[in-house]
Amino acid sequence: MRRSSLLLLLFILTIPAYSQTLVSDNSNAEMVGKFDHTAEIAIIPEPVSLVKTEGHFVLPANVVIHSAAIPELKQVVSFLQERLSIPTGSFVSNISDIKGPATIKLILNDKVNAAIGNEGYTLIITPSLITIKANKAAGLFYGAQSLIQLFPKEIEAKELVENVEWAAPCVEVTDYPRVGWRGLMFDCARHFFTKSEVKQYINAMVRYKYNLLHWHLTDDEGWRIEIKGMPKLTEVGAWNVKKVGEFGIFSTPDADEPRTYGGFYTQEDIKEIVQYAKDRFVDILPEVDVPGHSLAIIASYPELSCTEGAENYRVRSGERIMDWSKGAPPIALIDNTLCPANERVYGFLDTVITQVAQLFPFEYIHMGGDEAPINFWQKSDAIKALMKSENLKDMHQVQGYFEKRVQKIVESKGKKFMGWDEILNGDMPPSAAVMSWRGVKNGVDASKKKHEVVMSPSTYAYLDYMQADPITEPKVYASLRLSKSYEFDPIPYGSDAKYIKGGQANLWTEQVYNIRQAEYMTWPRGFAISESLWSPLEKKNWKTFFPKVEQHFKRLDIAETKYAPSVYDPIFSASRSADKQLMIELSSEVEGLDIYYSFDNSFPDRFYPKYTEKLTPPKDAIMLKVITYKGKDPVGRIMNMPIEELNRRAGRR
Ligand code: ACM
Repeated sequence: MRRSSLLLLLFILTIPAYSQTLVSDNSNAEMVGKFDHTAEIAIIPEPVSLVKTEGHFVLPANVVIHSAAIPELKQVVSFLQERLSIPTGSFVSNISDIKGPATIKLILNDKVNAAIGNEGYTLIITPSLITIKANKAAGLFYGAQSLIQLFPKEIEAKELVENVEWAAPCVEVTDYPRVGWRGLMFDCARHFFTKSEVKQYINAMVRYKYNLLHWHLTDDEGWRIEIKGMPKLTEVGAWNVKKVGEFGIFSTPDADEPRTYGGFYTQEDIKEIVQYAKDRFVDILPEVDVPGHSLAIIASYPELSCTEGAENYRVRSGERIMDWSKGAPPIALIDNTLCPANERVYGFLDTVITQVAQLFPFEYIHMGGDEAPINFWQKSDAIKALMKSENLKDMHQVQGYFEKRVQKIVESKGKKFMGWDEILNGDMPPSAAVMSWRGVKNGVDASKKKHEVVMSPSTYAYLDYMQADPITEPKVYASLRLSKSYEFDPIPYGSDAKYIKGGQANLWTEQVYNIRQAEYMTWPRGFAISESLWSPLEKKNWKTFFPKVEQHFKRLDIAETKYAPSVYDPIFSASRSADKQLMIELSSEVEGLDIYYSFDNSFPDRFYPKYTEKLTPPKDAIMLKVITYKGKDPVGRIMNMPIEELNRRAGRR
């Protein structure tokens, strides 16, 4: 045995191995999870090609994984060991002797299979053997993810589950992604999420073959990265006053209120998370959002502002600091920008970017650039002098000057520069990569100008938006239902596909206070985005996708990952009849649901009136309560809709 194989075996033996007898002990017990041979296969994202073949494979008590003893495969093997042993009780070992008997073979192709690229795989399940082949370890990992989804849902459990027949249908799968950049953005600036919560988020995303975590690390509400030599960023910038309610209109904290809410990642924490992600084939794109969204920086180092009095600024807790009534860019009520006319700003950014570049191996650094207000710059003598000396005509050019200087700094550290699509206003060179968020048009245009583009349009991919009616969802300024996010096409019509790197969904967390809510906002829309990024366009079909979503709801229940059931919530439309009566129409984005309702304040169930046509509320009714059922099962939540609210939506009587 080669030394590396010996090490691998030692490693395996340290993984908790569950007693084989647990499985055989159960053999006489009634199977509660008997393998359903007629069950539909429900892999998300949908594979490129899947052919069901005869029979099924039953996981034995002793599972032997064959794999070459190379370091890249270690994580794939340990992933399978963990997932196949803990819920099943099987003993899962790994050997690199490819001649002996095997249950699962992980094979790196000797001769590259060009059709499947770096992340694709083939998966063949026969009654006696599972074979996953790929060109690279990442492909084997994604093959393993698909394999897990073929086992009964209880495979998602974090503990032993008894009385399940651990069978998977025989299949032949060939699969590879449509785009290479398949990301989720996680905003850990608005609310701080612990190291283990970030890992939990990564763990959930890789099940759906995401390969990139865009980590939003700085904003008005918090600075989250330890930067050596800049201690105030984390002593001051990482902390605010906890407020709950409706973000954006919180009362301004008193000067002496304790600033104890927040946190930051030490450089050691970051290295640990980067490694954790890498082990799961996830790259991390760090974002430092400047020159706007920089109040946490200014509160720490007020000398980086153009504005007098910045020493009185504090890290934001969610009080009103912008006036959005005139659209973008917003009018800042306090100056949350770094000063493009201040040389110290570029020195500061050099220090930050140097350390960020060292901490994150990914080839890009995202430097923000969105929503930078200009009203304080317009009043600033320093900006006026800069405009004169640099011949800058307007504030777009002022921001463009800033972005170009920041791009130079990023590139001087050996990294590529990326920014939100506002950076295009500043006439950036094509070497600046663009993340398109204000719809798809900016991304389409940027691709035509030969900028690399990542599509993350708010219209399809903003996970902070409400998933159903504001009457049930935490209030945010916009909505995005699951069916709409499923329409996301990362390579939109008119774009130059050569420059589209891929796409991602963005979870901003102004209104997301904890990891359970982060999960609620991410799933199931994260399924829709993953299928949009991975599966061929012609394989996408809402009618076949939604039944899979329902299967995955059950999987997430078992995995104890939260998701939103909002897709079952009916859609309310309020209008007026010719004689000005309120008319209420209820519809659903999902077929086959029944909606039951009451106007008498009691809780409807399936023995209540079923919605069949537009409703007119009884004269003095104050509340419409509804619930959706699928057959005999309630699937939606009780929704309480005040008649007053419907009257408001229908417009004047
Ligand atoms: C953004 O949503 N402001 C990029």
